[in-house]
Amino acid sequence: MISVTSLDVRYGDAQVLFGVDLSVAEGETLAVIGANGAGKSTLLKAIAGALRPARGRIVLDGRDVTGLPAHRRYPLGIALVPEGRRLFPSLTVEENLRLGSYRGRPGPWRLDRVYELFPHLVALRRRSAALLSGGEAQAVAIGRALLGNPRLLLLDEVSLGLAPIVVRQLYAALPTVIGAGTTVLIVEQDVGLALAAADRVQCLLEGRVALEAPSAEVTREAVTRAYFGV
Ligand SMILES: Nc1ncnc2c1ncn2[C@@H]1O[C@H](COP(=O)(O)OP(=O)(O)O)[C@@H](O)[C@H]1O
Ligand SMILES: [Mg+2]
Repeated sequence: MISVTSLDVRYGDAQVLFGVDLSVAEGETLAVIGANGAGKSTLLKAIAGALRPARGRIVLDGRDVTGLPAHRRYPLGIALVPEGRRLFPSLTVEENLRLGSYRGRPGPWRLDRVYELFPHLVALRRRSAALLSGGEAQAVAIGRALLGNPRLLLLDEVSLGLAPIVVRQLYAALPTVIGAGTTVLIVEQDVGLALAAADRVQCLLEGRVALEAPSAEVTREAVTRAYFGV
């Protein structure tokens, strides 16, 4: 469904991604893991169109989207839940959620479905996003992206800074999302979480793909080697 070929990304003179190849089949869940600074967020931003690659191709459903900016990829079905959630603090929970529908696709995700997925948001619908806990904000960020009815949902470190129980609650929503027909690409630093949630894992080491394997076949040792480059 999505394929990324020979992707190079630079920030000015600093090259951060080197010839990255990645593909996700429809209905499959891929996890990209790697240490801090490996280039995971950069990869997701490039797929979402927030960054222009120096080289390489990004193809969604057979269509080359490499030259399209983020606001033109979103209507085609690529939605990014960015690291740090990026809600509008001056808006309420529901206003933040509704923004996801703007220029989105038609599909199964409506406001009521998002509230079913994250029932604790119902009581918070009129609360300012500035007053949410990290876990609540993360649920809103995921819900907002779902309201665009993406073909591909990109999740950047859902677990960052959250208590384990909150992380488990958020990850528990994933099977429903996948069941609704959304293909998911997760970025995680937490290897255990990534292996449990994804069909396949890909490890980034200093901007290069160091390992790619089905989650069920990968060994801890192989992941550790690819993760730390030892
Ligand atoms: N806007 C930016 N300008 C310059 N360098 C950046 C920028 N964003 C990230 N980097 C650098 O790119 C590398 C990869 O960053 P990032 O993609 O955020 O990694 P990860 O998400 O795996 O932690 C890091 O060395 C980081 O310092
Ligand atoms: Mg990151």
